[in-house]
Amino acid sequence: MKRGELVAGLDLGTTKTCAVIAEAKSDARVPAIRVLGVGLAKGSGVRRGVVRDLEETTRSIVQALRDAERMAGVRVPSLTCGIAGEHVTARSSPGLAAVTGDEIGREDVKRVEDAARAVNLGPDQELLHDIPQEYRVDNQGGISDPLGMTGLRLEVDMYLVSVQSTAIQNLRKSVERAGYRVAEVVLEPLAASLAVLAEEEKELGCALVELGGGSTNLAIFREGKIRFLWSCPFAGGRVTSDIVQGLQVPQADAERLKERLGVAYEPLVDPNETFELPSMPGQGVRVAKRELLAHIIHQRVDEILGLVNRQIESAGYAGRLPAGVILTGGGAHLAGMVELSREVFAMPARAGEPNRGITGLVDSVQAPRYAVPVGLALYAARQRLPGSADGDTVDRIFAPVKRWLQDFF
Ligand SMILES: Nc1ncnc2c1ncn2[C@@H]1O[C@H](COP(=O)(O)OP(=O)(O)OP(=O)(O)O)[C@@H](O)[C@H]1O
Ligand SMILES: [Mg+2]
Repeated sequence: MKRGELVAGLDLGTTKTCAVIAEAKSDARVPAIRVLGVGLAKGSGVRRGVVRDLEETTRSIVQALRDAERMAGVRVPSLTCGIAGEHVTARSSPGLAAVTGDEIGREDVKRVEDAARAVNLGPDQELLHDIPQEYRVDNQGGISDPLGMTGLRLEVDMYLVSVQSTAIQNLRKSVERAGYRVAEVVLEPLAASLAVLAEEEKELGCALVELGGGSTNLAIFREGKIRFLWSCPFAGGRVTSDIVQGLQVPQADAERLKERLGVAYEPLVDPNETFELPSMPGQGVRVAKRELLAHIIHQRVDEILGLVNRQIESAGYAGRLPAGVILTGGGAHLAGMVELSREVFAMPARAGEPNRGITGLVDSVQAPRYAVPVGLALYAARQRLPGSADGDTVDRIFAPVKRWLQDFF
């Protein structure tokens, strides 16, 4: 592939639309980008990954891309779009094949893969990712690449991620109406993981928790690969609603208060500190304790993180994620999030800022809320990594099959 090819990530969130334009650095084996432009538009016409208002979505894509393209000084033809939410389904699917020759060849691997993929995803479902998690040769497990091994029986566990076709169709429609092409649709946590997780974290075991405006997404990684996905409709928006109710302020003020003075971990706040509440005409001056604001936020975030933790437990990963929790999304900007997370999960926790494989306008994207759009650009760059070089066994063998191996983590 050419050097310096342009890539663009588009994150259609519940609260905002974000575009990141970058140059793919195709000279490395790991994906890397040089960020050239970032565009942010308020709103998106999308709620929790589903287009609710085609016109609004189209408008916000146009706006975010216009700003990003202006900053970058280039135009991009196609966008790598993120998707997440409750309409995403993931399942583990086994495949079995008899080995035809003396040793396992690419045909055998292809056959076992096809067998694992040949499941009925259900009506109205489109396959998004197919990720081989583990191979077994004659019942011996834990094999990540069976090629060339000797055996009679080859098995695979494949992680299949699918999404409602209508959700993808509407996404495509809005992108096309905005004048772009959809290069690919990518699961958001998978994209974010490229931007914020170290290989060792994915290897050891960690939980990526994305706190957005409309949904909270959990992705568990272990032994280098994605193992579990979960999404719930409780996130930043709920916290804001609680502030509206608790402090009797309008939505926009609640949002501002949350961002400027909000703290997710009550013990961090000085109990004597007060602030002036925005008041309506005729209401007079109203003062509130910052501790009260923190209390409201703490309660709700604690509840949301508690739900996430229960999922980690019921998925069987309690005590098995030594690299801990990595927080991304706008919610990760809240002061005290890391402290509260350490308490709720009883694990190490950190905020995930995109800083892996990124050069260029790094400052513009180095915050947890950019993990998804930057990750999407990285994902696009990875698709453009040199594929058929002689030394690149994996790509040489599988490139004709499908892109599945590129989801190999
Ligand atoms: N500095 C901040 N402090 C506290 N909260 C913040 C801050 N910045 C953003 N948020 C909150 O983060 C949320 C938006 O996060 P994000 O941009 O990741 O969501 P989204 O992608 O629009 O939504 P979703 O992914 O759920 O569809 C909002 O609830 C917003 O209030
Ligand atoms: Mg989001």
